[in-house]
Amino acid sequence: MAHYRRAGEVPPKRHTQFRTPEGGLYYEELMGEEGFSSDSSLLYHRAIPSAVVDATPWELPDQSTTENRPLLARHLQLHALFPGEEGKRADVVTGRRLVLGNGDVRISYVVAGEASPLYRNAVGDECVYVEAGAATVETVFGTLTARQGDYVLLPRATTHRWVPVGEEPLRCYVIEANSHIAPPKRYLSRYGQLLEHAPYCERDLHGPDGPLLVDGSDVEVLVKHRGSRGVTGTRYTYPTHPFDVVGWDGCLYPYTFSVHDFEPITGRVHQPPPAHQVFEGDNFVICNFVPRKVDYHPLAVPVPYYHSNVDSDEVMFYCGGDYEARKGSGIGQGSISLHPGGYAHGPQPGAMERALGAEFFDELAVMVDTFRPLELGEGAVASEDPNYAWTWSGRGPAS
Ligand SMILES: [Fe+2]
Repeated sequence: MAHYRRAGEVPPKRHTQFRTPEGGLYYEELMGEEGFSSDSSLLYHRAIPSAVVDATPWELPDQSTTENRPLLARHLQLHALFPGEEGKRADVVTGRRLVLGNGDVRISYVVAGEASPLYRNAVGDECVYVEAGAATVETVFGTLTARQGDYVLLPRATTHRWVPVGEEPLRCYVIEANSHIAPPKRYLSRYGQLLEHAPYCERDLHGPDGPLLVDGSDVEVLVKHRGSRGVTGTRYTYPTHPFDVVGWDGCLYPYTFSVHDFEPITGRVHQPPPAHQVFEGDNFVICNFVPRKVDYHPLAVPVPYYHSNVDSDEVMFYCGGDYEARKGSGIGQGSISLHPGGYAHGPQPGAMERALGAEFFDELAVMVDTFRPLELGEGAVASEDPNYAWTWSGRGPAS
């Protein structure tokens, strides 16, 4: 994020004395990516940010995965993971159920009614898509407002917590990277400004407006971090509340972007998925398919052609409208399709013919393409529709 932002009070010169009203010094912290060689921000704390008084293991929810074998297209029904009242008792951090993952990215789903503990992910950036409901996201940089359709981008090591707002359950589709998540480089000028051809610009990105100061003592923070066998966690106790930043400035901070502000790129004939890209991380991309006018060549076939993603696994999360190409497959709101590299996929039988002459698709989907194979988490095993792989043929397995 190369867009400079400033909130609260900061001294006129970095790395100089910045004094409290009582005459003491604030504690300056540089939060920077790639050592000291990429985007960073300077935060000014009331208390020493490295002070901790206790540390114990935090046992994460089940992070185990199993290989996608036999290699199959999969349909997962995520809403089934939180039936009835279960979402009211969960929170966005500890209630996540792992659906898919590999060494680069993990995808989880959660329905939450409770405020989460304080938390930070030291493994990588998080991109949380809000399928439904609303929340405030309190962070060490200040507060974000999150509503249906928002992506909430939380840089690695940002201490924060999720507080659901309103009556509707908060439904979150969580993309956790092992790297950073950012706009695609081809959308950016050589100095980092979003270019005219990009489907969104800086005005569509919403950062925290001001500092968030909270008093407290002996405050717990859950930290997800790297372990020798993958991702693990530690529970720290801080002597004072970590939301003690009176001001910060820089180019590294959390922000939101609404999928409804994504301006779709359309054409006379079918546009490939890179036209729908919104973010990227190491070894994966995030795209979204939004309501849009569709292909206007007089002989256009508006649904996708069949395609083999020879280098990637493709995960679609269906989160609004009707997805034309998937009609007849059983896929609906809250479904995931996983179309792995290794064989072709495309519209269900009859979808091509039905789409001829269509002028508008009212569909909303978030797609993650990974360049290494995805494995199935416990949430996938628990929510799979076993019939999906056979819907193109209309027949089940021979045995
Ligand atoms: Fe596809």
